[in-house]
Amino acid sequence: MSRNITSIIAGIPAPGPDGARFTSTNPARTSEVVADVSPGDASTFVAAARAARQAGQAWADTPAPVRGRAIAHIGRVVEANAESLARLVTREIGKPYPEALGEVREIVDTCDFFLGEGRRLYGQTVPSEMPDKQLFTFRNPVGVVSVITAGNFPVAVPSWYLIPALLCGNTVVWKPADYSPACGAALFDLLVHGGGLPDGVLNLVLADGEATFAGLERALSENLVDKVGFTGSSAVGSRIGELTGRHLQSACLELGGKNPMVVTPSADLDLAVEAALFSGFGTAGQRCTSLGTVIVHESVHDDFLARFDKATRQATVGDPFGDVVYGPMLDEKFAQRFEDFLGWIQPHHSVLGSTATGRITAASPREGFTGDPDAGIFCHPTIVDGVREDDAIFLNETFGPLVGVTTYRDLGEAIRLANIPGYGLSSSIYTNEPAEVFAFRRGISAGMVSINNSTSGAEAHLPFGGNGKSGNGSRQSGVWVLDQFTRWQSMNWDYSGRLQKAQMDVAELAPNESFRLAD
Ligand code: UN1
Repeated sequence: MSRNITSIIAGIPAPGPDGARFTSTNPARTSEVVADVSPGDASTFVAAARAARQAGQAWADTPAPVRGRAIAHIGRVVEANAESLARLVTREIGKPYPEALGEVREIVDTCDFFLGEGRRLYGQTVPSEMPDKQLFTFRNPVGVVSVITAGNFPVAVPSWYLIPALLCGNTVVWKPADYSPACGAALFDLLVHGGGLPDGVLNLVLADGEATFAGLERALSENLVDKVGFTGSSAVGSRIGELTGRHLQSACLELGGKNPMVVTPSADLDLAVEAALFSGFGTAGQRCTSLGTVIVHESVHDDFLARFDKATRQATVGDPFGDVVYGPMLDEKFAQRFEDFLGWIQPHHSVLGSTATGRITAASPREGFTGDPDAGIFCHPTIVDGVREDDAIFLNETFGPLVGVTTYRDLGEAIRLANIPGYGLSSSIYTNEPAEVFAFRRGISAGMVSINNSTSGAEAHLPFGGNGKSGNGSRQSGVWVLDQFTRWQSMNWDYSGRLQKAQMDVAELAPNESFRLAD
């Protein structure tokens, strides 16, 4: 069944201005239309921001515990719709169904965390330097938050922004990826209906990237947006950071990764291989936390590589409703870009993992493939051994089913290699030596470090975010994201009946610093 969907501003469907339409199709069977979309343009975005601004005061004035109840109800409604939302995720972006169910679970976990925050959202009482004076801190909502998200996690990652932003008393304009509009519309409905959100508190804009950027630019200059949250590529993140910086705003940026996995001589190699398979090829390598390069000690390289190659060749690729390691690419544009990344393979590399590289088709088959490869957008898993530190394939994110492998001699070299690409999102080390764990943790530039675990699959209540090309240091999830969606306000209250000047009218005791105990 295909859905007709449009932007929604202040509760009212807002079809695109010029009658333009595009369709969202199932990447496992591209003849199947999932949604028929009437896209908005830059003025749709501005109108949505205006609606959010208008709804802002009343939502900020709604007591935080009441907003927390809205989040509680959203969690329950998402839970009650988990299977149908997960099926839609699988149909629209091809994520294997068990992973899609996990993605929906991540929304519920986020709601479970934040429903209580409505009754907490603590400020502090702080002692004053002077008598008869009290100091306090309060968290205020930022205002209108504009959220722009990718489609590889079309519902979970948006919820990491939307749930805490709403809980904190902000109103929101959300622009989901243009290849996951049906998931966007479904999550929007669950939030609005489940939470009983008043019109204008959450607005949905369906538009392409350039229209969104132009709309954001206008909305910022008309003072209609106070905070931007963006998940996507480092290139677009840097444009958004530059634009918001001109308006003296700091966006919450969650960008790409080139996530390393170090495999040491003491590692359990079977565990490391299992994790490399999941983090390198799960979601067809299209997570920001996907494994980029395995940096394996030279003494275990051959053994690791042989086992990793075998596990990858045996992994089932195909129909995402079946039992597969991964299904199709998210969308045709990702498959095309992946072919460009494959062009970075050089004669000094050895390629393993499958019978071919690039598209899986009837003419370029893969053993064990389930379903009809020609009906969808499927790519072979690719292991590239022998990558060097100045290779494009080593230095850049290759969003897709590709894992590089290189070797190291001592841990210092492994850490140096792991940091060279200049991203800094996730990382992993397989070791049974505690000293190596802490040396790696200290030396790695990443915001997230896994010990004997995959680079992907973070839990939804730990700080999530990266450094360098992976972001500007902002962190999502748990209590840490509250600093993205609130501003601290400090208040002092002097009831002494006179003007007591800070730093000047402060009592001083009379210490005797030369005092010593008698021997
Ligand atoms: C992303 O790809 O943008 O840690 C987020 C993970 C997931 C989130 C990935 N929980 O892999």
